[in-house]
Amino acid sequence: MTYPDEFLPSLPPQQEALFAAAAADYARYRPGVPDAAVRVLADILRGRSAPVLLDLGTGTGQVPRALLPAVPALTHIEAVDVSRQMLDQARNALAPVLGHCTLTLVHAAADAYEPLAPLPGEEDSGPDLITCCRSYHWMDGPAVLTMADRVAAPDAAVAIMGDGSLWTHDADWTRALREVIQSYLGSERRAGASATYAEPRRSYEEDLAASAWSDVTERRFPVTRTWTPATVVGYLHSTSFAQPDLFQDRHEAFEAEARQLLDAYAKDGVLQEEAVFTVLLARRPGTAS
Ligand SMILES: C[S@@+](CC[C@H](N)C(=O)[O-])C[C@H]1O[C@@H](n2cnc3c(N)ncnc32)[C@H](O)[C@@H]1O
Repeated sequence: MTYPDEFLPSLPPQQEALFAAAAADYARYRPGVPDAAVRVLADILRGRSAPVLLDLGTGTGQVPRALLPAVPALTHIEAVDVSRQMLDQARNALAPVLGHCTLTLVHAAADAYEPLAPLPGEEDSGPDLITCCRSYHWMDGPAVLTMADRVAAPDAAVAIMGDGSLWTHDADWTRALREVIQSYLGSERRAGASATYAEPRRSYEEDLAASAWSDVTERRFPVTRTWTPATVVGYLHSTSFAQPDLFQDRHEAFEAEARQLLDAYAKDGVLQEEAVFTVLLARRPGTAS
């Protein structure tokens, strides 16, 4: 089910629009969660009788999609996103693999989340694991961590995860690609049609240290990804820094130039990305098992 009928506010409406247009390309071209990181998340839920996942900024449901087969006991998923189109993609991706697990899609800003009804599990309990994958930087982080403390089970964990993007990745072909984007859109990284990207004021670690979730462990997982020029172009459609409408009537010219550059850098048709997927695993002090 999806609730509420009206979006739960706390965000400017343009943030929702930013992700709406990208949802289909996101579902098709974004890399998933690496297996090693999935195992770390699954370990948190192992041994719990009716584990519940709250995924914030779920997008196309990458995190629950990866966790469902890894945690067969998973009982319920609350998947929250500001974009209805993303939630539609998440429903399509998750429905065929849910099995006995139930799913609630919540159209809300993460900090405004509240459960519609008591969640499965012990009375007055809450989610056992709260995940933010490639999404925390879009949110009001401290408010999200306060909300998490309000709703989570006593021995829950929060996982803030991500792996940068092809904008931040430092390889010869990503640097060259970034320069082409900048030659069309200006040097500042765009974040949709009406904004530029602002670096977070505080690090995620500082946010966590100042929150109820101050017992933090960092895990880093190197991943090698292979792209083709066509999948990079598809990926760009799904980003806030190179989505087609930013280029207005110059998008065709940009795409032709980007494609030519990617073809030139590709070896045997392939471009390599050496990424690091980082998981910050946070608990309330004194609750680690
Ligand atoms: C880069 S995507 C990540 C999606 C998914 N977690 C993944 O790893 O593939 C960021 C998602 O966060 C959502 N989002 C942005 N701001 C949000 C907010 N304040 N509250 C909830 N969701 C938000 C966007 O709509 C988008 O689906």
